Amino acid sequence: MARSTAPQTAPAVPATQARWTRKDLLDTEGLRREEVELILSTADAMAEIRRRPVGKVAALRGVTVATLFYEQSTRTRASFEVAAKALGADVVNLTAAGSSVEKGESLIDTVRTLESIGVDILVMRHPSAGAPAVAAKHASMSLINGGDGMHAHPTQALLDLYTMRKHLGSLAGRRVVIVGDILHSRVARSNLWLLLGEGAHVVFCGPATLLPRHLIRSLEGTPNFHWSTDLEAAISGADVVMALRLQKERQEHGLIPSVRDYVRRYQVNAERLAKANPGVLVMHPGPMNEGIEISPEVAHGLQSLVEEQVANGVAVRMAVLYLLAGARAR
Ligand code: CP
Repeated sequence: MARSTAPQTAPAVPATQARWTRKDLLDTEGLRREEVELILSTADAMAEIRRRPVGKVAALRGVTVATLFYEQSTRTRASFEVAAKALGADVVNLTAAGSSVEKGESLIDTVRTLESIGVDILVMRHPSAGAPAVAAKHASMSLINGGDGMHAHPTQALLDLYTMRKHLGSLAGRRVVIVGDILHSRVARSNLWLLLGEGAHVVFCGPATLLPRHLIRSLEGTPNFHWSTDLEAAISGADVVMALRLQKERQEHGLIPSVRDYVRRYQVNAERLAKANPGVLVMHPGPMNEGIEISPEVAHGLQSLVEEQVANGVAVRMAVLYLLAGARAR
């Protein structure tokens, strides 16, 4: 990250902590607008801290943050670690592989063990939907959902919203097309709730077999929600196109005819982007399968915000850690 070399005063931490009341951050569904605004405005202050030469404050000195990941991750785990260290917290990183989980230790025992060790905030990724919520019920430490099955990935959606708003300002009336394997996507679900709350038009687009039928049925009559199996039609007039990874590891046999057919109908490429609004923003939560759901020239083109999303993830996660720690201290 490029940092200013101008003389510095001590970076100020924002006075937003007092307004946060939740113990955990498990989902974006049910987050109030004022809570979203609080996270995003705190993230602005955190981004300012990161731009300074040291890029760190001691706001969470004495706080221990652990990451416990039962699934692979690069972005979420690394950015939580960087975020926690930038706030002066102590950090413990655990993966299921190499921990006592491999010896059969249960989720609850693992969580209680970490609490006994002195962990204050636990960031958890788990393949089962609801696992972080179960852990949160059995622990007095704060839980942050770093992605649970096909359910939710709240900090990804918050950093996506933060990034969109940096470019578009208000999202009211904007058309955001989320394309790909939505059935298996916790990112799509978490984005949906935030974007509807912002007044955006959200379009889920993908093969019928990769659209979440029950969720779509439950959204019938929601004025700003749309779905389509036709990417050309969906992308027309789009302000944001978010491509999702084709989750090959979660595909049951036969959900798509072939990867080649998927690419032909659903790849976000330059030809399709030309149908969107001028200046359309291209996003992807990562990791990308370049050449499958997104073409390499679009993934790395001028309209792509992929790297900016990752960079913004640190400030947004600093904000979440800072707010949760504040609620614990009261
Ligand atoms: N977007 C996201 O969750 O990436 P990782 O799996 O690398 O954490």
